[in-house]
Amino acid sequence: MSTQIDRLMQLTKNLKIKAEQELTGEVKPTRVITVASGKGGVGKTNFTLNLGIALAEYGQRVLILDADLGLANIDVILGISPKYNLLHVITGEKDIQDIIIEGPNGIKIIPGGSGIYELTDLEEWQLERFLLKLSKLENENDYLLIDTGAGISKNVLNFTLAADEIYIVTTPEPTSITDAYGLIKTLHKHKFLGEIKLIVNKALTVEEAEITGKKLQIVVNRFLKNCKLEILGYVLEDKAVPKAVKKQKPFLLDNPTARASEDIYKIASKICNCSNDARYASGLKSYFNKIFSLFK
Ligand SMILES: Nc1ncnc2c1ncn2[C@@H]1O[C@H](COP(=O)(O)OP(=O)(O)O)[C@@H](O)[C@H]1O
Ligand SMILES: [Mg+2]
Repeated sequence: MSTQIDRLMQLTKNLKIKAEQELTGEVKPTRVITVASGKGGVGKTNFTLNLGIALAEYGQRVLILDADLGLANIDVILGISPKYNLLHVITGEKDIQDIIIEGPNGIKIIPGGSGIYELTDLEEWQLERFLLKLSKLENENDYLLIDTGAGISKNVLNFTLAADEIYIVTTPEPTSITDAYGLIKTLHKHKFLGEIKLIVNKALTVEEAEITGKKLQIVVNRFLKNCKLEILGYVLEDKAVPKAVKKQKPFLLDNPTARASEDIYKIASKICNCSNDARYASGLKSYFNKIFSLFK
């Protein structure tokens, strides 16, 4: 169980690492994580937002890109309505700093809006300008979390393939597991070289969550050669989640001691504790460069 003391210890540890990095002048690239799923409505947006808030509580600087064009977006959960989005940056009307929204615990949110689609056919000079704007964010953020829409459209796939790590969210429902497998298979087919990790959401018990994770792991091991699926953790089904969503508040802040919040804190600790692993972070510029080469 993650207690207040555990959380303070995690924060202290992270601040110490940061202080050491500052002393040695070491600049760490932003760690880019895409949150994806095969099926919609499995809890990606809630997971991404609350994970971001927990990481920020642990002293990490978090940027979230809302790349989901679905209905329940991050701005809806936060009860805000962004005036500008990525499209305004691409067209040159706004600077990236002008569209970023400050969220709880100092997390920053980039509303993707229809700009997400426009990214697909940028001219070379527009691309250069966009990358230049983005590079300003490189040293200001430890994490970029990307909340994608469901499924394996080309758009979602490219956002996913370019990331250092992919977190796949599934529920214990057979259709959700099958679709998660479909997504992993597609990533494998496209020779994704990063880490694929699984989050089981909305299981009724720990046992159900574990069985769900194992089932998927077995199928991946059997049918996808050299593909490794790590189980990152689970968030149990919890009434505190829809209750907070109705209030347009992240559940972690609405009810920090709820079961789902405890689960999120646990996952956030796990992520922080492997953040020193150099192979994870390639940085924002490299990430967007990869996206553009995939779209070509
Ligand atoms: N752990 C959970 N327990 C209970 N309900 C949840 C949980 N996670 C998500 N939900 C509910 O599931 C619905 C879909 O969540 P959302 O984050 O919008 O999914 P997605 O982004 O994958 O479409 C929301 O109404 C939310 O309240
Ligand atoms: Mg969503």
